[in-house]
Amino acid sequence: MKIAVPLESDPVEARVALTPETAKRFVGLGAEVVVQKGAGALSRFPDEAYEKAGAKLAKDAKATLSGADVVLKVRRPNADELKLIKKGTLVVATMDPFGHEDDVKAMAEAGITAVTMDFMPRITRAQVMDVLSSQANLAGYQAVIDAAELFDRAMPMMMTAAGTVSAAKVFVMGAGVAGLQAIATAKRLGAIVSATDVRPAAKEQVESLGGRFVAVEDEEFKEAETAGGYAKEMSDDYKKKQAELVASHIAKQDIVITTALIPGRPAPKLVTKDMLASMQPGSIVIDLAVERGGNVEGSVAGEVATVGDVKVAGYLNVPGRIAATASLLYAKNLYAFVETLIDKEAKALAVDWEDELVKATVLTRDGSIVHPAFAG
Ligand code: NAI
Repeated sequence: MKIAVPLESDPVEARVALTPETAKRFVGLGAEVVVQKGAGALSRFPDEAYEKAGAKLAKDAKATLSGADVVLKVRRPNADELKLIKKGTLVVATMDPFGHEDDVKAMAEAGITAVTMDFMPRITRAQVMDVLSSQANLAGYQAVIDAAELFDRAMPMMMTAAGTVSAAKVFVMGAGVAGLQAIATAKRLGAIVSATDVRPAAKEQVESLGGRFVAVEDEEFKEAETAGGYAKEMSDDYKKKQAELVASHIAKQDIVITTALIPGRPAPKLVTKDMLASMQPGSIVIDLAVERGGNVEGSVAGEVATVGDVKVAGYLNVPGRIAATASLLYAKNLYAFVETLIDKEAKALAVDWEDELVKATVLTRDGSIVHPAFAG
């Protein structure tokens, strides 16, 4: 059983799907682990560390992928990589399939079994495999660090002989995994933190981290959560009331971090140009939803835009900005899942296609698109 880990082909991707630690564990299960030279370099895992863990090094993508039974990646394979992967190979990555239906089709046509980690059900057994949580948590942390770097004032209150510095006011919009970590991080830096969300369950979580909850708490709000724990699209009337409340709040903030997402839909627009104009000069907005269309009017993917006197950062791949830590957790998520697909006695792949985790995550198989969200 050959497990292959190529160097990520996307230039914005600094993460890697295997660490020396998980390489060692796969070798322990009887796998031949092959890593492309330099694959871990941007996550501070040198080639020698993989070799020491029992993996073999390959000089290029072709040598890495040739004959592999399992390919572990961060991002879905591109057309060049698909040519190098044999039919029937299990390719495990964060495929991000919504909005990329053509790429899903290409993976089906290439005959690979594409497994997308971002569809892992959020059930207890799969918590250790939850890449959305492990990566969003770090994105939330990094968003505050990025904001602090762009901000030209101190975050905490300081009482010094030369005078008192007031604490920065940070407002987090969307209190899911990323938002909650942003709240915790901003609190640790001494900021005065508030947050909003459309899910009522978020209120208690925000308050337990020491943040103030800001939201229109009407009847619609009380029912605004799906059975899966995700946000629902809100009515126009609710959005209007919430926008008014948020507008007056944002005018008093130094830093706004937006993380609001609705699965399978464009990100809701929450911060308008007028709201940005109401902020003090030098204020900072970090739009973590920029890759899904953005929560902020005027945010530009991959750039720090200046809108009036406010800087709006639309960094791409924020978990990749903290790549060494993000890879450590991502690789563990992958190991925890792939290990369940291996027969420890036979030292071979033995996928139970009826397992609910497999059913939820397999997109393509035997030349077809098999996931219900995309098939047909
Ligand atoms: P997400 O990344 O889909 O969205 C981020 C946040 O934006 C969510 O809290 C959502 O309610 C909020 N949002 C959406 N529209 C908004 C709007 N118009 N205004 C303000 N906020 C808005 O969500 P994430 O971080 O993946 O978490 C979703 C839920 O799943 C949470 O309840 C979280 O605690 C839960 N969860 C459960 C896990 C488990 O049981 N294993 C693991 C991880 C998360």
